[in-house]
Amino acid sequence: MRRSAELTGRTAVVTGAATGIGAAIVERLAAQGMELVLVARDGARLEVTAERLRAEHGAQVSTLALDLADHGAPARLAEWLAEAGTEVDVLVNNAGVSLLGPVAGSDPARVRGLVDLNAGAVAELTAFLLPGMVARRRGAIVNVASTGAYAPAAYLAAYAASKAFVLSFTRALWAETRATGVRVVAVSPGPTETAMNTSRMPGKRDPGAVADTVMSALRGRGPAVVDGRLNALQTFVFGRLLPASAAAVIAERTLRKAALGNVSSVLP
Ligand SMILES: NC(=O)c1ccc[n+]([C@@H]2O[C@H](COP(=O)([O-])OP(=O)(O)OC[C@H]3O[C@@H](n4cnc5c(N)ncnc54)[C@H](OP(=O)(O)O)[C@@H]3O)[C@@H](O)[C@H]2O)c1
Repeated sequence: MRRSAELTGRTAVVTGAATGIGAAIVERLAAQGMELVLVARDGARLEVTAERLRAEHGAQVSTLALDLADHGAPARLAEWLAEAGTEVDVLVNNAGVSLLGPVAGSDPARVRGLVDLNAGAVAELTAFLLPGMVARRRGAIVNVASTGAYAPAAYLAAYAASKAFVLSFTRALWAETRATGVRVVAVSPGPTETAMNTSRMPGKRDPGAVADTVMSALRGRGPAVVDGRLNALQTFVFGRLLPASAAAVIAERTLRKAALGNVSSVLP
């Protein structure tokens, strides 16, 4: 891909950057000549990714091991960036977890932790880093949502709801920031081949394809992009054509076996 003058030499913060979709995104950003700050819980794994980016792209990469579901973690990240004098031009809120199963059988602490990470940290980190972008009149925030954001998903209730939050938050923020020079966009992958989704469903997308969609979303104009044509069609049918109750019932039937069978796989 041709390097974009708007990205080269600038700094991106990417959460959940060590594996899966996040690792593919930082690879694309490093190829654009960006300096990178990688965030996730497992510091050693982050360093492996960072080392690869340094070796393959000569990128300047820092890592910060943080549990973003912890209250106060986004503030610690913002402080760490401020102390290092780092101006953030691109924030990719990608870190996320899923939880498959009926709410009645779920650990309440895990449900809360999922919402704190998938929704809370996204909103808080955005609120910390957006003012600097607006003041500089440049920058971008990409929030990784999910096709699950577009309709209720039984057995993935908290996950889909957290992603619906991300989608709605991002669309509103897009409208708020349209005249500020800051690009805000939600990117929604469907089933993608990562550690989060080990299910044997057909048609799973490659994390690299999602990263390509993120890169084109950065150049685009609208508030929300779905990765992959079939996924886009699915979100149109479930999010726009069907009443929410019908969408919820169909999702319940589709996911029942995976959720109630003895499976550890987690679907998007
Ligand atoms: N795979 C799919 O089918 C699919 C579909 C739709 C949307 N998505 C979304 O895509 C994003 C990336 O997921 P993925 O599929 O690439 O899964 P993944 O490989 O499991 O990556 C998740 C990343 O988030 C980090 N993370 C998890 N909990 C964290 C926490 N509490 N604090 C900080 N970092 C944390 C993980 O690193 P550590 O474990 O080291 O913290 C990891 O780097 C997620 O937002 C997910 O919801 C995925």
